[in-house]
Amino acid sequence: MAKPKVRYVCTECGSAQMKWMGKCPDCGEWNTLEETLIQESAAGVGRGSAGSPLGAPQPLALPDIPAEPSQRILLKNGELNRVLGGGIVPGSGILVGGDPGIGKSTLLIQMAANVAQTVGKVLYVSAEESAYQIRQRASRLSITEPNLFILSDTVLEQILDRILEVKPALVIVDSIQAIHSSANNSAAGTVSQVRDCTAHLLRLIKHENIPLFLVGHVTKEGTIAGPRVLEHMVDAVLQLEGERFHSYRLLRSVKNRFGSTNEVGVFEMGENGMEEVANPSEFFLAERLPNASGSAIAVPLEGSRPLLVEIQALSSPTAFSQPRRTANGIDFNRLLLVTAVLSKRVGINLTVQDIFVNVIGGMKIGEPAADLAMAAAIASSYRNVAVAADLAVIGEIGLSGELRSIGQLPRRLGEAAKLGFKRAVVPRNALRSKGNDLPKGIEVIGVRTLSEALGVALME
Ligand code: TYD
Ligand code: MG
Repeated sequence: MAKPKVRYVCTECGSAQMKWMGKCPDCGEWNTLEETLIQESAAGVGRGSAGSPLGAPQPLALPDIPAEPSQRILLKNGELNRVLGGGIVPGSGILVGGDPGIGKSTLLIQMAANVAQTVGKVLYVSAEESAYQIRQRASRLSITEPNLFILSDTVLEQILDRILEVKPALVIVDSIQAIHSSANNSAAGTVSQVRDCTAHLLRLIKHENIPLFLVGHVTKEGTIAGPRVLEHMVDAVLQLEGERFHSYRLLRSVKNRFGSTNEVGVFEMGENGMEEVANPSEFFLAERLPNASGSAIAVPLEGSRPLLVEIQALSSPTAFSQPRRTANGIDFNRLLLVTAVLSKRVGINLTVQDIFVNVIGGMKIGEPAADLAMAAAIASSYRNVAVAADLAVIGEIGLSGELRSIGQLPRRLGEAAKLGFKRAVVPRNALRSKGNDLPKGIEVIGVRTLSEALGVALME
């Protein structure tokens, strides 16, 4: 066998360099190269991996390949099913990322209990907590499944053996950064360890057709720690997000080889762990004060699902030479654009006003379709008149003060109608393309400009 060689592996893109450099020549990131011992295989590239212990796959004629890999495991939790694209695909590797304490272990142990109850044995490998700690969490959640097996171990080779012994219907590894392979000399959590351990686990579960959930830590910047290649290796990447002071959590699918990406599941962290929120719009509007000024309802899309969220604005005369602008949950540059258009095209003089915009519930809106609701909230606060309580406000604002068309209007209107909204202001152009399939029970008012929209929205 060849001697291990020292290489410098990039934590961002996973490329290996001969010498250390400040900047990775492949992905251009700074300070990402990490010293790593690499065991070069004696076989060399191009000669195949003869004698692979798991057997070599054979080519299949296209029609002989089954359309669905095999039966998906359907979970009790509808929000999880949605994010996974309709249940767990056997043999798939799923990476779950998120800040510490956000609820990854809680969500996964609840899912494990569900699968243990309906399908069969589940192996929960905890590399960070002792079996006793897991047991305590399980008792808090009233989980007593005899089919749920907890393994507290950090050595990859032993974990692989246990998987082969137990032959579970589902494996969970919490977390991938805490396990290490004894064949690799680097410390646990380094790029080469994380990559090797993931590769070995994936190879085994694909061969055995067992689904695998990997918990991944998140770095300060919010990306999953370890090389970006980790995200390329797995079939799906789910990201659990939330605000520290809010109980709701969003589970986003960032990548999914077996379903659509950008799907979002909404959960609430409560006494009994992570509970699904079947009707998130209702949840986000629960504390709304109808007929208060400075509030408007936007209908942004979260993945493929429209959500109703309240945007609040406060405009008050500034005490400074430079007025203040604060945006919470909405893009700051979008706020600047909307205030500039309100000043220049509608004649609302905001140059001497401090403006605060807040999306209620800690939601983050990344869509320009919420522009109009933001503008309506600001104008409503400035003039101190309310936006009608039964009105949803949808549309993107252009620099000339025109309203620009937005996608998926019927679905957004459908969600608003479902929650009892009676009217919606929308860009007139959006109606042209989707004339016929608008939902019933909601009056749709098409307007061309921001001024017209404010005329409809503000109860003056
Ligand atoms: P945890 O699942 O351990 O987070 P992660 O694995 O992402 O680090 O969740 C820890 C937090 O969740 C902790 O602050 C306590 C809280 N929690 C609840 O609010 N309700 C519950 O039922 C449980 C089990 C935890
Ligand atoms: Mg945890």
